[in-house]
Amino acid sequence: MSTQAPKTKAKPGEAERAKTTVRDFRLKKKSGEPITMLTAYDYPTALAVDRAGIDSILVGDSLGMVVLGYSNTLPVTMEDMLHHCRAVSRGANFPLLIGDMPFMSYQVSVERAVANAGRFLQEAGMDAIKLEGGRDRAEAVRQIVSAGIPVMGHLGLTPQSVNTLGGFRPQARTHSAAKRLIDDAFALEEAGAFSVVLESVPARLAEWVSKKLSIPTIGIGAGVGCDGQVLVTHDLLGLFDRFTPKFVKQYARLHSVMAEAFASYKADVEARSFPTDEHSVTIKEEQWQALLKELDGES
Ligand code: KIV
Repeated sequence: MSTQAPKTKAKPGEAERAKTTVRDFRLKKKSGEPITMLTAYDYPTALAVDRAGIDSILVGDSLGMVVLGYSNTLPVTMEDMLHHCRAVSRGANFPLLIGDMPFMSYQVSVERAVANAGRFLQEAGMDAIKLEGGRDRAEAVRQIVSAGIPVMGHLGLTPQSVNTLGGFRPQARTHSAAKRLIDDAFALEEAGAFSVVLESVPARLAEWVSKKLSIPTIGIGAGVGCDGQVLVTHDLLGLFDRFTPKFVKQYARLHSVMAEAFASYKADVEARSFPTDEHSVTIKEEQWQALLKELDGES
């Protein structure tokens, strides 16, 4: 018997899909069809994102904040990332799976960056990795790509640099900062990145960069002119209510739905209205009577 939980399969009536690859990212950019991407950190979310037909899943280090309760992404480790990537890869068949390299897993040396990038594919079922930074990371990107691992870059608001950026704030809003971002984007493209995330940067700049690069840009808080969009799923679902960035559109309010469900459960248990017979295990009458008779005989 298989010990694997089921992955998504096309339901009757649903079109069969092919697995998304980095080539599909390129083709979508060429045809002008927007690329869709969401984060996921666990098996059931991966199943649902897959079933919705989303092109790509990012197992983001944002899990440090929205799942593990840290105030930023810096404490997230390689082991945390691999653990969540494995759960996602067990649930998602079709989206391109991208593992986010955590703080200090690629900054110390190019050798360490390549070795850690390899672990995402070899041990956790990912198809590609993402890392933050531009020109400073170009050599690491080049070497990871030359090891056969597709790399997605990440520019603008790069959360692992929260301390040097002075907080989670929009980026590239001055002439010189915008110029630096453009140079970084070209450096990533030249180093072989297959795509680049642009986070919390002016929409006009993101559109300009998207037109100039041959690789697709994926925006988050970067306007509609990017080649694709990504959101943190917990923000989209309204599951994480501690802080919601301005650029998030909430498509649901699941935090309140959960809190209401938990309160109803508490009330039912306290009123003994749960569980009912419907939720209880039965024993055949004759078996029960035989047991009672035996127990009565013993006492
Ligand atoms: O960690 C993450 O989820 C990300 C996205 C916000 C792009 O990097």
